[in-house]
Amino acid sequence: MSLLTERFRPKTREEIVGNKETLDRLFNMVKTGNLTHCILEGFPGVGKTTVALVIARQLFGEFFRSNFLELNASDERGIEVVRNQIKTFAKTSPLNATFKILLLDEADQLTPEAQQALRRTMETYSGICRFIFSVNNLEKIIDAIRSRCETFRFGPIPVSDMALRLCYIYEQEKGTSSVNVASAMQKIAEYSHGDMRKAINHLQLLLASGEELTEASVDSIKPINYGKLIFDSLQKGRLLEARKHLQTALELGYKEDYIIELLHNSYIDDLTLDSNTKAEAVFNLCETDFRLTQGVNAMLAMDNLLYQLLRK
Ligand SMILES: Nc1ncnc2c1ncn2[C@@H]1O[C@H](COP(=O)(O)OP(=O)(O)OP(=O)(O)O)[C@@H](O)[C@H]1O
Ligand SMILES: [Mg+2]
Repeated sequence: MSLLTERFRPKTREEIVGNKETLDRLFNMVKTGNLTHCILEGFPGVGKTTVALVIARQLFGEFFRSNFLELNASDERGIEVVRNQIKTFAKTSPLNATFKILLLDEADQLTPEAQQALRRTMETYSGICRFIFSVNNLEKIIDAIRSRCETFRFGPIPVSDMALRLCYIYEQEKGTSSVNVASAMQKIAEYSHGDMRKAINHLQLLLASGEELTEASVDSIKPINYGKLIFDSLQKGRLLEARKHLQTALELGYKEDYIIELLHNSYIDDLTLDSNTKAEAVFNLCETDFRLTQGVNAMLAMDNLLYQLLRK
Protein backbone atom coordinates (compact mmCIF):
# COMPACT_ATOMS: atom_id res chain seq x y z
CA MET A 1 0.00 0.00 0.00
CA SER A 2 1.54 3.28 -1.05
CA LEU A 3 1.73 6.16 1.40
CA LEU A 4 -1.56 7.98 1.82
CA THR A 5 0.31 11.20 2.55
CA GLU A 6 1.79 11.12 -0.95
CA ARG A 7 -1.36 10.01 -2.73
CA PHE A 8 -3.37 12.72 -1.01
CA ARG A 9 -0.82 15.48 -1.31
CA PRO A 10 -2.97 18.42 -2.47
CA LYS A 11 -2.53 19.40 -6.12
CA THR A 12 -4.48 22.66 -5.94
CA ARG A 13 -4.89 25.56 -3.53
CA GLU A 14 -8.48 24.48 -2.75
CA GLU A 15 -7.37 21.15 -1.34
CA ILE A 16 -4.92 22.65 1.16
CA VAL A 17 -6.56 23.04 4.57
CA GLY A 18 -5.79 25.49 7.41
CA ASN A 19 -3.65 28.65 7.50
CA LYS A 20 -6.16 30.52 5.37
CA GLU A 21 -4.73 34.03 5.79
CA THR A 22 -1.20 32.93 4.99
CA LEU A 23 -2.37 31.03 1.93
CA ASP A 24 -4.50 33.96 0.73
CA ARG A 25 -1.52 36.30 0.98
CA LEU A 26 0.72 33.88 -0.86
CA PHE A 27 -1.70 32.91 -3.62
CA ASN A 28 -2.77 36.52 -4.21
CA MET A 29 0.82 37.17 -5.13
CA VAL A 30 0.97 34.06 -7.32
CA LYS A 31 -2.19 35.20 -9.13
CA THR A 32 -0.33 38.28 -10.39
CA GLY A 33 2.13 35.90 -12.06
CA ASN A 34 4.96 37.22 -9.91
CA LEU A 35 6.72 35.87 -6.85
CA THR A 36 9.28 37.29 -4.41
CA HIS A 37 11.85 35.07 -2.74
CA CYS A 38 9.89 33.40 0.07
CA ILE A 39 10.43 31.72 3.40
CA LEU A 40 7.67 29.29 4.39
CA GLU A 41 8.15 28.96 8.10
CA GLY A 42 6.61 26.88 10.83
CA PHE A 43 5.19 23.68 12.12
CA PRO A 44 6.08 20.29 10.55
CA GLY A 45 3.53 18.46 8.41
CA VAL A 46 1.23 21.39 7.69
CA GLY A 47 1.78 21.80 3.96
CA LYS A 48 4.85 23.99 3.39
CA THR A 49 6.47 21.73 0.79
CA THR A 50 3.05 21.00 -0.71
CA VAL A 51 2.35 24.72 -1.11
CA ALA A 52 5.61 25.27 -2.98
CA LEU A 53 4.73 22.42 -5.36
CA VAL A 54 1.23 23.79 -5.97
CA ILE A 55 2.62 27.26 -6.70
CA ALA A 56 5.10 25.88 -9.21
CA ARG A 57 2.41 23.81 -10.92
CA GLN A 58 0.11 26.82 -11.09
CA LEU A 59 2.77 29.09 -12.55
CA PHE A 60 4.44 26.68 -14.96
CA GLY A 61 1.73 24.19 -16.00
CA GLU A 62 3.20 21.64 -18.39
CA PHE A 63 6.67 23.24 -18.03
CA PHE A 64 6.70 22.43 -14.34
CA ARG A 65 9.48 19.86 -14.57
CA SER A 66 11.89 22.16 -16.42
CA ASN A 67 11.37 25.21 -14.25
CA PHE A 68 11.20 23.75 -10.78
CA LEU A 69 13.86 22.08 -8.65
CA GLU A 70 13.43 20.73 -5.14
CA LEU A 71 16.51 20.19 -3.01
CA ASN A 72 16.52 18.90 0.51
CA ALA A 73 19.10 20.77 2.53
CA SER A 74 19.25 18.13 5.23
CA ASP A 75 20.76 15.68 2.70
CA GLU A 76 23.58 18.03 1.80
CA ARG A 77 24.14 20.80 4.26
CA GLY A 78 27.40 22.29 3.06
CA ILE A 79 28.67 24.94 0.76
CA GLU A 80 29.28 22.49 -2.11
CA VAL A 81 25.58 22.12 -2.76
CA VAL A 82 25.31 25.89 -3.19
CA ARG A 83 28.32 26.02 -5.50
CA ASN A 84 27.15 23.12 -7.62
CA GLN A 85 23.50 22.16 -7.84
CA ILE A 86 21.93 25.46 -6.78
CA LYS A 87 24.08 27.70 -8.94
CA THR A 88 23.77 25.45 -11.99
CA PHE A 89 20.00 25.48 -11.76
CA ALA A 90 19.71 29.20 -10.94
CA LYS A 91 21.75 30.43 -13.87
CA THR A 92 20.10 28.52 -16.72
CA SER A 93 17.20 30.26 -18.44
CA PRO A 94 13.61 29.32 -17.67
CA LEU A 95 11.56 27.48 -20.27
CA ASN A 96 8.44 29.33 -21.42
CA ALA A 97 8.34 31.37 -18.19
CA THR A 98 9.97 34.55 -16.86
CA PHE A 99 11.58 32.83 -13.89
CA LYS A 100 12.20 29.42 -12.37
CA ILE A 101 11.67 28.30 -8.79
CA LEU A 102 14.16 26.58 -6.55
CA LEU A 103 12.66 25.03 -3.44
CA LEU A 104 15.16 24.52 -0.66
CA ASP A 105 13.42 22.19 1.73
CA GLU A 106 14.56 22.18 5.36
CA ALA A 107 16.81 25.14 4.62
CA ASP A 108 17.38 25.66 8.36
CA GLN A 109 19.71 22.65 8.11
CA LEU A 110 22.13 24.56 5.83
CA THR A 111 25.33 25.63 7.51
CA PRO A 112 25.75 29.40 8.03
CA GLU A 113 28.62 29.34 5.49
CA ALA A 114 26.39 27.75 2.87
CA GLN A 115 23.74 30.38 3.60
CA GLN A 116 26.30 33.16 3.17
CA ALA A 117 27.29 31.73 -0.20
CA LEU A 118 23.66 31.52 -1.17
CA ARG A 119 22.92 35.20 -0.68
CA ARG A 120 25.19 36.13 -3.60
CA THR A 121 23.57 33.52 -5.86
CA MET A 122 20.12 34.82 -4.91
CA GLU A 123 21.08 38.33 -5.90
CA THR A 124 22.91 37.51 -9.11
CA TYR A 125 20.14 35.38 -10.56
CA SER A 126 17.06 36.93 -8.94
CA GLY A 127 15.81 38.00 -12.38
CA ILE A 128 15.39 34.43 -13.56
CA CYS A 129 15.25 32.38 -10.37
CA ARG A 130 13.11 32.75 -7.24
CA PHE A 131 13.96 30.88 -4.07
CA ILE A 132 11.45 29.30 -1.73
CA PHE A 133 12.88 28.24 1.61
CA SER A 134 10.94 25.84 3.77
CA VAL A 135 12.02 25.96 7.42
CA ASN A 136 10.89 24.74 10.82
CA ASN A 137 13.12 27.13 12.69
CA LEU A 138 13.43 30.66 11.33
CA GLU A 139 16.10 31.50 13.92
CA LYS A 140 18.57 29.34 12.02
CA ILE A 141 18.29 31.43 8.86
CA ILE A 142 20.83 34.25 8.64
CA ASP A 143 19.53 37.85 8.62
CA ALA A 144 20.93 38.52 5.16
CA ILE A 145 18.66 35.87 3.65
CA ARG A 146 15.67 36.79 5.79
CA SER A 147 15.85 40.38 4.61
CA ARG A 148 15.73 39.25 0.96
CA CYS A 149 12.54 37.22 1.45
CA GLU A 150 8.86 37.58 2.32
CA THR A 151 8.11 35.34 5.28
CA PHE A 152 4.92 33.29 5.45
CA ARG A 153 4.08 31.66 8.74
CA PHE A 154 2.38 28.25 8.89
CA GLY A 155 0.72 27.27 12.16
CA PRO A 156 -0.84 23.98 13.25
CA ILE A 157 -3.93 22.75 11.37
CA PRO A 158 -7.16 23.19 13.39
CA VAL A 159 -8.79 19.95 14.53
CA SER A 160 -12.04 20.56 12.62
CA ASP A 161 -10.26 21.19 9.28
CA MET A 162 -8.10 18.15 9.86
CA ALA A 163 -11.05 15.90 10.67
CA LEU A 164 -12.84 16.96 7.47
CA ARG A 165 -9.79 16.19 5.35
CA LEU A 166 -9.44 12.77 7.04
CA CYS A 167 -13.11 12.03 6.29
CA TYR A 168 -12.51 12.96 2.65
CA ILE A 169 -9.47 10.64 2.42
CA TYR A 170 -11.43 7.85 4.10
CA GLU A 171 -14.28 8.20 1.60
CA GLN A 172 -11.90 8.15 -1.36
CA GLU A 173 -10.10 5.11 -0.01
CA LYS A 174 -13.10 3.06 1.06
CA GLY A 175 -15.63 4.26 -1.46
CA THR A 176 -18.23 4.68 1.31
CA SER A 177 -19.63 7.49 3.42
CA SER A 178 -17.60 8.64 6.43
CA VAL A 179 -20.62 9.44 8.60
CA ASN A 180 -20.05 6.49 10.93
CA VAL A 181 -16.36 7.22 11.44
CA ALA A 182 -16.60 10.99 11.90
CA SER A 183 -16.01 10.86 15.66
CA ALA A 184 -13.01 8.55 15.22
CA MET A 185 -11.56 11.01 12.68
CA GLN A 186 -12.12 13.83 15.14
CA LYS A 187 -10.12 11.89 17.72
CA ILE A 188 -7.25 11.17 15.32
CA ALA A 189 -7.13 14.89 14.59
CA GLU A 190 -7.00 15.73 18.29
CA TYR A 191 -4.11 13.33 18.86
CA SER A 192 -2.11 14.72 15.96
CA HIS A 193 -1.51 18.15 17.53
CA GLY A 194 -1.87 20.17 14.35
CA ASP A 195 0.36 17.92 12.20
CA MET A 196 -1.62 16.83 9.12
CA ARG A 197 1.04 14.36 7.98
CA LYS A 198 0.93 12.64 11.35
CA ALA A 199 -2.89 12.47 11.22
CA ILE A 200 -2.90 10.84 7.77
CA ASN A 201 -0.25 8.36 8.88
CA HIS A 202 -2.38 7.45 11.91
CA LEU A 203 -5.33 6.89 9.61
CA GLN A 204 -3.25 4.66 7.34
CA LEU A 205 -2.08 2.60 10.30
CA LEU A 206 -5.65 2.07 11.46
CA LEU A 207 -6.92 1.18 8.00
CA ALA A 208 -4.08 -1.32 7.58
CA SER A 209 -4.85 -2.96 10.93
CA GLY A 210 -8.26 -3.99 9.56
CA GLU A 211 -9.90 -3.00 12.85
CA GLU A 212 -13.17 -1.15 12.84
CA LEU A 213 -12.63 2.59 13.04
CA THR A 214 -14.01 3.64 16.40
CA GLU A 215 -12.93 6.04 19.12
CA ALA A 216 -11.63 3.02 21.06
CA SER A 217 -9.48 1.74 18.20
CA VAL A 218 -8.05 5.23 17.76
CA ASP A 219 -7.20 5.22 21.46
CA SER A 220 -5.07 2.15 20.91
CA ILE A 221 -2.65 4.14 18.74
CA LYS A 222 -2.56 7.19 20.96
CA PRO A 223 1.09 8.23 21.06
CA ILE A 224 2.82 8.39 24.41
CA ASN A 225 3.26 11.99 25.49
CA TYR A 226 6.86 12.02 26.71
CA GLY A 227 6.59 15.66 27.74
CA LYS A 228 3.84 14.74 30.18
CA LEU A 229 5.79 11.74 31.51
CA ILE A 230 8.86 13.91 32.14
CA PHE A 231 6.66 16.58 33.72
CA ASP A 232 5.00 14.07 36.09
CA SER A 233 8.36 12.66 37.18
CA LEU A 234 9.76 16.14 37.81
CA GLN A 235 6.71 17.09 39.87
CA LYS A 236 7.31 14.05 42.04
CA GLY A 237 10.96 15.02 42.47
CA ARG A 238 12.18 11.97 40.55
CA LEU A 239 15.08 13.22 38.50
CA LEU A 240 16.42 9.84 37.36
CA GLU A 241 13.02 8.76 36.15
CA ALA A 242 12.56 12.03 34.24
CA ARG A 243 15.96 11.57 32.65
CA LYS A 244 15.05 8.03 31.60
CA HIS A 245 11.91 9.27 29.84
CA LEU A 246 14.00 11.95 28.14
CA GLN A 247 16.50 9.35 26.93
CA THR A 248 13.75 7.11 25.57
CA ALA A 249 12.14 10.01 23.70
CA LEU A 250 15.48 11.00 22.17
CA GLU A 251 16.20 7.42 21.13
CA LEU A 252 12.79 7.30 19.45
CA GLY A 253 13.83 10.29 17.35
CA TYR A 254 12.03 13.10 19.19
CA LYS A 255 13.89 16.38 18.70
CA GLU A 256 14.87 18.40 21.79
CA ASP A 257 12.80 21.42 20.73
CA TYR A 258 9.72 19.23 20.33
CA ILE A 259 10.21 17.76 23.81
CA ILE A 260 10.46 21.31 25.13
CA GLU A 261 7.20 22.14 23.39
CA LEU A 262 5.48 19.10 24.95
CA LEU A 263 6.84 20.05 28.37
CA HIS A 264 5.61 23.59 27.83
CA ASN A 265 2.10 22.28 27.11
CA SER A 266 2.20 20.18 30.27
CA TYR A 267 3.07 23.19 32.42
CA ILE A 268 0.46 25.42 30.79
CA ASP A 269 -2.31 22.79 30.97
CA ASP A 270 -1.68 21.84 34.60
CA LEU A 271 -4.39 23.24 36.86
CA THR A 272 -2.64 22.71 40.20
CA LEU A 273 0.48 24.86 39.69
CA ASP A 274 0.48 28.51 40.74
CA SER A 275 1.33 31.19 38.20
CA ASN A 276 4.78 31.95 39.66
CA THR A 277 5.86 28.33 39.26
CA LYS A 278 4.51 28.28 35.73
CA ALA A 279 6.26 31.54 34.86
CA GLU A 280 9.57 30.25 36.16
CA ALA A 281 9.21 26.98 34.26
CA VAL A 282 8.31 28.76 31.02
CA PHE A 283 11.33 31.03 31.46
CA ASN A 284 13.64 28.01 31.84
CA LEU A 285 12.07 26.24 28.85
CA CYS A 286 12.40 29.35 26.76
CA GLU A 287 16.03 29.83 27.74
CA THR A 288 16.93 26.23 26.89
CA ASP A 289 15.12 26.47 23.58
CA PHE A 290 17.15 29.56 22.74
CA ARG A 291 20.41 27.92 23.79
CA LEU A 292 19.70 24.98 21.51
CA THR A 293 19.41 27.34 18.54
CA GLN A 294 22.87 28.63 19.45
CA GLY A 295 24.38 25.19 18.95
CA VAL A 296 25.24 24.22 22.55
CA ASN A 297 25.64 20.56 23.56
CA ALA A 298 22.00 19.45 23.43
CA MET A 299 22.20 16.73 26.08
CA LEU A 300 23.90 19.08 28.55
CA ALA A 301 21.30 21.76 27.93
CA MET A 302 18.45 19.28 28.45
CA ASP A 303 20.03 17.90 31.63
CA ASN A 304 20.43 21.40 32.95
CA LEU A 305 16.77 22.04 32.20
CA LEU A 306 15.65 18.97 34.15
CA TYR A 307 17.62 20.13 37.21
CA GLN A 308 16.02 23.56 36.98
CA LEU A 309 12.50 22.18 36.65
CA LEU A 310 12.83 19.52 39.33
CA ARG A 311 10.40 20.12 42.18
CA LYS A 312 12.52 20.06 45.31
N1 LIG B 1 -2.53 21.85 4.87
C1 LIG B 1 -2.64 20.61 4.37
N2 LIG B 1 -3.76 20.24 3.70
C2 LIG B 1 -3.89 18.97 3.23
N3 LIG B 1 -2.94 18.01 3.36
C3 LIG B 1 -1.81 18.33 4.02
C4 LIG B 1 -1.61 19.64 4.55
N4 LIG B 1 -0.41 19.68 5.14
C5 LIG B 1 0.13 18.47 5.00
N5 LIG B 1 -0.69 17.65 4.33
C6 LIG B 1 -0.42 16.22 4.06
O1 LIG B 1 0.81 15.89 4.69
C7 LIG B 1 1.82 15.58 3.73
C8 LIG B 1 3.11 16.28 4.11
O2 LIG B 1 2.98 17.68 3.97
P1 LIG B 1 4.21 18.63 3.61
O3 LIG B 1 5.34 17.82 3.10
O4 LIG B 1 3.72 19.72 2.74
O5 LIG B 1 4.56 19.18 5.06
P2 LIG B 1 5.66 20.26 5.48
O6 LIG B 1 4.94 21.41 6.13
O7 LIG B 1 6.55 20.57 4.34
O8 LIG B 1 6.42 19.46 6.63
P3 LIG B 1 8.00 19.51 7.08
O9 LIG B 1 8.17 20.74 7.91
O10 LIG B 1 8.16 18.28 7.91
O11 LIG B 1 8.82 19.50 5.83
C9 LIG B 1 1.25 16.00 2.38
O12 LIG B 1 1.69 15.13 1.37
C10 LIG B 1 -0.23 15.90 2.58
O13 LIG B 1 -0.68 14.57 2.37
MG1 LIG C 1 8.57 20.03 3.97
